[in-house]
Amino acid sequence: MQRRDFILDGCRACLLAAAISTGLSGLSSCSPSYSVFKADIRDNKLELPLSLFEKDTFQIVRPAHFNYEIAVQKNPDNSYKALLLKCTHQANQLTPTGRGYACSLHGSHFDKDGNVTKGPAEQKLRELQTGLAFGKVIVYL
Ligand code: FES
Repeated sequence: MQRRDFILDGCRACLLAAAISTGLSGLSSCSPSYSVFKADIRDNKLELPLSLFEKDTFQIVRPAHFNYEIAVQKNPDNSYKALLLKCTHQANQLTPTGRGYACSLHGSHFDKDGNVTKGPAEQKLRELQTGLAFGKVIVYL
């Protein structure tokens, strides 16, 4: 067996062990699929069509010419929660994990409500004010 094959087999074995130990649902949280909605900023706010939340109650929004994405969650009471995906440690862009958000720079994690679940970050994510107007979800930046 050549060295390259040995390493590949070792990686496959590790992935299989991880899948067995965490369950397959755990793997899906490692690389969740989510759509990104691109939006323009007008008067310091975003206007999102309500139809975005018909199939899924969760949406990542990427404002044009803005440094960070925003996670928008539709709540059971039809209100909306928007979190700025900016790490509160040193301002790195966060990545959705399926269970919350992760920072690739120093490893902080946040839950879906923006609370810190793993440091070094100490402060929860900034929540942006939301509202409904003219059949749209408004996110105030
Ligand atoms: S910038 Fe996110 S953990 Fe440091």
